[in-house]
Amino acid sequence: MCGIVGVTGVGDALPYLLQGLQKLEYRGYDSAGVFLTDASGKNELIKEKGRVSKLAEKAEAYGFNGTAGIAHTRWATHGNVTVENAHPQKSANNRFFLVHNGVIENYKELKDTYLSNVDFVSETDTEVAVQLVNHFAEEGMATVDAFRKMISMLEGNSAYGFLLVDENDPETLYVAKKKSPLLIGVSDHGYAVTSDAAAMIDLTKDFVELRDGDVAIVKPDSLTIFDENGDDIVREPFTLEIDPEDTDKGAYPYYMLKEVDEQAVVARNIAGHYYDEDGNLQGIGCAITDKMKEADRLYIVAAGTSYHAGLVGKRYFEQWAKIPTEVHISSEFAYDQPMLSEKPFFIFLSQSGETADSREVLDNVKKQGYPALTLANVMNSTLTREADFALPLLAGPEIAVASTKAYTAQVIVQAILASSLGNPGFDLKAELAKVAVEIQAITDDKEKFKAIAEDALADQHSAFYIGRGLDAAVALEAALKLKEISYIQTEGFAAGELKHGTISLIEDKTPVFALLTQKKTAGLLRGEVAQVAARGAKTIVFASKGVAKEGDAFVLPEVNELLMPLLAVIPTQLVAYYATLARGLDVDRPRNLAKSVTVQ
Ligand code: G6P
Repeated sequence: MCGIVGVTGVGDALPYLLQGLQKLEYRGYDSAGVFLTDASGKNELIKEKGRVSKLAEKAEAYGFNGTAGIAHTRWATHGNVTVENAHPQKSANNRFFLVHNGVIENYKELKDTYLSNVDFVSETDTEVAVQLVNHFAEEGMATVDAFRKMISMLEGNSAYGFLLVDENDPETLYVAKKKSPLLIGVSDHGYAVTSDAAAMIDLTKDFVELRDGDVAIVKPDSLTIFDENGDDIVREPFTLEIDPEDTDKGAYPYYMLKEVDEQAVVARNIAGHYYDEDGNLQGIGCAITDKMKEADRLYIVAAGTSYHAGLVGKRYFEQWAKIPTEVHISSEFAYDQPMLSEKPFFIFLSQSGETADSREVLDNVKKQGYPALTLANVMNSTLTREADFALPLLAGPEIAVASTKAYTAQVIVQAILASSLGNPGFDLKAELAKVAVEIQAITDDKEKFKAIAEDALADQHSAFYIGRGLDAAVALEAALKLKEISYIQTEGFAAGELKHGTISLIEDKTPVFALLTQKKTAGLLRGEVAQVAARGAKTIVFASKGVAKEGDAFVLPEVNELLMPLLAVIPTQLVAYYATLARGLDVDRPRNLAKSVTVQ
């Protein structure tokens, strides 16, 4: 999704901006742009459709690095993917330049009311914002006041992260945010503004978080922040605990493969964080567990892969903690809140901590006074900051759009949390150690999944994943993984439902992957595999050791049955990866998708 970087006072601006944009690429985008300027007011605006590398080539060819600048990757919302619609947008008189993340709901009304005599070159809401700043500046307002005035006119669910340059004072950056994340990087020489700290770690690891309603003025040697009441305030920076190498692919051809391989280490890291040396739980805190124990129902709210992890977590909360648990898609819950129990407790699951739909739900439930806990991979994110409690997922930076290690981390952290509320009846810590070993064993067996993917999926336009119980939950995640990167239309299905309609889609050689790890339903699932095979499907079974049969495509090592989703998901990630490679597609950057979805 859209990304913002800006710098001032750091010396040559262009290299930092381009490097920042490259680090933001993983979030998904379809065009990019950069505006460079210096103290004398010399400037350059360059925008391109497609890859940042294309923009970099063009920008570097000008030979002007600037001493300040703003840059953006755009994921189209208002208006098609065109150079005109890419950011930065500018005022017609070339005085103001603006990049924007978010959506302005009433931009058409603002345009009609205040800007009817202005020539627009783009279809974007952002151009309305920058022309409006200019409109108020021409009425005689100081830049910061014109900026504030424009912001005060944004209505409804409008969200923004703004970064503005005024060519009358070219090295100053004007910054504002609501709902869309923005951070200010503080270094010994100058400042950076970014929507994602990882984009600026080559300059600094120290960041000041902006809150909703803040406006900041960033000069080469000073930073002033005003809060929503207009008071000049000081916010201490936090230090990002991230190794720049964690965000590099190293020798891997794609981030996704690196992240799949990292899952064994992630499992160990999580255990290392949540258990002390004697095997006692630590790091959760009674404030959280007491509140959860008071609840009569848990509501897990999430999107995408995180939602699928929630479906698995439900089982742990119900079976071990004995608390009824519902799992909800955040974009649905946000606008059609179901009837709640008397004492609900909310759990937000999120890799990024910034998903707009989940933030909307959190906002709503906070207004209703219900307690909320966020489990997120990015701490210091909006969802972790705004919930009553937050626990880290500790998966490390996840760059590939297709989420893998964050899913594993979410399942594990939910299991640990549930075990702090009620006894799982086995030694979870020891079992997680076994899980880590077995994940490693499966990822070491990559070639098998490469062969399976190439054989079953190279020429297919559709596929199925089926399972029962926990395997049905994993089937949904497996199907999402395969379809989102390979573009093979894939459905994940509770196997028993096939016969009620979907089985009519089975044709000769349609690949049907069956996940078979739950003893209670293994026999039934075998029957369903036979039913689709009898109708011409190519069946590929991934079964756990205890229920495996000759002819199964892969035998999964066995751990406690409730933890089997952690193993069963790995082959499906690798199948998705290799099927995508076989089709010659970009594994890490599937079309139309974004890593962090900050629009509703
Ligand atoms: C996007 C990503 C998915 C992710 C979903 C939810 O669609 O591409 O991989 O599962 O958002 O994101 P979150 O950061 O809240 O887990």
